[in-house]
Amino acid sequence: MKKLYIRTFGCQMNEYDSDKMVDILGANEELVKTDTPEDADVILFNTCSVREKAQEKVFHDLGRVKHLKQANPDLIIGVGGCVASQEGAAIVSRAPYVDVVFGPQTLHRLPALIDKRRTSGRSQVDISFPEIEKFDNMPPARVEGATAFVSIMEGCSKYCSFCVVPYTRGEEVSRPLDDILTEIAGLAAQNVREVTLLGQNVNAWRAPIARGEHAAGTEIYDFAFLLECVHDIPDIERIRYTTSHPREMSARIVEAYAKLPKLVSNLHLPVQAGSDRVLAAMKRGYTTLEYKALIRKLRVARPDLTVSSDFIVGFPGETEADFEATMKLIEDVGFDNSYSFIYSARPGTPAADLVDDTPQALKLERLARLQKRIDEQATVISESMVGSQQRVLVEGPSKKNPEELAGRTDNNRVVNFVGDLHTNPQRTSRLIGSFVNVKITAVMSHSLRGELVLAD
Ligand code: SAM
Ligand code: F3S
Repeated sequence: MKKLYIRTFGCQMNEYDSDKMVDILGANEELVKTDTPEDADVILFNTCSVREKAQEKVFHDLGRVKHLKQANPDLIIGVGGCVASQEGAAIVSRAPYVDVVFGPQTLHRLPALIDKRRTSGRSQVDISFPEIEKFDNMPPARVEGATAFVSIMEGCSKYCSFCVVPYTRGEEVSRPLDDILTEIAGLAAQNVREVTLLGQNVNAWRAPIARGEHAAGTEIYDFAFLLECVHDIPDIERIRYTTSHPREMSARIVEAYAKLPKLVSNLHLPVQAGSDRVLAAMKRGYTTLEYKALIRKLRVARPDLTVSSDFIVGFPGETEADFEATMKLIEDVGFDNSYSFIYSARPGTPAADLVDDTPQALKLERLARLQKRIDEQATVISESMVGSQQRVLVEGPSKKNPEELAGRTDNNRVVNFVGDLHTNPQRTSRLIGSFVNVKITAVMSHSLRGELVLAD
C-alpha cells in the first residue's frame, strides 16, 4: 500500500485543506497516511505565510527530505498552501527536487498534477484561483466522530494592511447554498451532531437567489439565512463558525443569536487592537466603540455569550497609549480566549512599508501582559461554571485517563468526567457521540472536571 506523509502549518483552514488532500489522494491514488516521511511515496508540505519567516521554514523542511528523493527517485514531493501561492515556480528554481507546487485553491488538482509530473518528467506548478471549482471536485467527506468542519467560503476581500491572505488565497468566494446543505445533511446521516462552518470571514458568506426562487430575483441569501437553514437540519444539534469579521456582523446575524438555540453561545470575533488609530492603520473598518456596541447587542440577544478574539501586538508605530487602549478594550469586553501574536511584517502587504521601531523586548512584554489578562478573564468564566450543569458533546475517552470520558461544552471547554464505565460499560461507550448533561465540579489548568448527570 502506498503512503502519504503530510505536514501542516498554520490555521484551521490549512488543517481542513490537509484533510481534503488526504481524502483526494486516498480516493485517486489509494494512498494512506503515514507519520514517517521515510516510509512515504508522496510527501506534502501544506504551508502558511500569515506569520513568521514561513518561506525559510519551508526550504529548511524541504532540505530535510531531499535525501529521501535520492534514495527513492519515484518519491513525489509537493508544496501547497500560502507559501506555495506566494512563491510559485521560485520554489522549484530553488529546490529542483520539488515535483508539484499547488495553491489553496488548486489542491483538488493534485492527482492530475502528480500524474503530469510522472508522464512529463517535469515539475508542475499550479497556483491559480479557479473560483469554486475546488469544492466541486472533492470526494465525500470522511467522518470521524460527532463533529465536523464544513468549508463554506474561500479567500478574503478585506485587505487588512498587515495580512497576506487576500493575495495567497484570493478574494472571497462563497460556496453555493445547496452544496453546503447537502454536505451537512450527509454528515448528519453519518452521526455528526456538531458542525463548524469554516472560512476566513464566514459571516461575509453570500449567495444569489436563483431566478424564480424569489419574485424580485435580485436578492441575496446571507449568512443569517444559511444559519437558519443549517438550524433546520434535524440531527445537527450544535452550530459553530470561525472566523468572522466585525464589519460583516449584520443586525440579522445578531438576531440569529436570539432565534437559533443550536447556535453556540461562544463567538470568535477578531478585533486585532483597541486603539482607533491602530485599527485605522490596519484598515479594519471599525472603531473600538463600534466593536463594543456590537458585543453589547449580541449579549442582549444572547446574555451568556462568551467572546474570543485575535490580537496583533506591536503593529508598526504602536505607542504605549495605543497598547493601553487595547488593554482597556479587554477590560470592557471581557474575553474568553485569544489568538494573540506579535506583528510580523509580511512581504507585499502595505504595512510592511511602515516604520516599525518598537523594540522586540517591549512587544514581547506587551504580549505577555495581554495574554495574562485574558487568561485571568477566562479563568473567571470557568470558575463561574462550577456547580452548573452543562450540555456536553461526548468526544471519546479522556486523553489523560482512558477510564474517563471527555467532551466539549457549548462555550468550547473540554470537560473530563467519570462515565459509569465499571458499572455499565455498554452505556458508557454509547455516550460517545451524543449529548449528556455534566455537572461541573472543578477548574483545571486547560480543562474542567465534572460528573455525569444521569437521566432519571
Ligand atoms: N477573519 C479574520 C479577521 O477578521 O481578522 C482573520 C483571519 S487571519 C488569517 C488570522 C489571524 O492572523 C488574524 O486575525 C491576525 O490576528 C493574524 N495575522 C494576520 N496577519 C498577521 C501578521 N502580519 N502578523 C501577525 N499576525 C497576523
Ligand atoms: Fe486577513 Fe483581514 Fe482577511 S486579517 S484574512 S485580510 S479579514
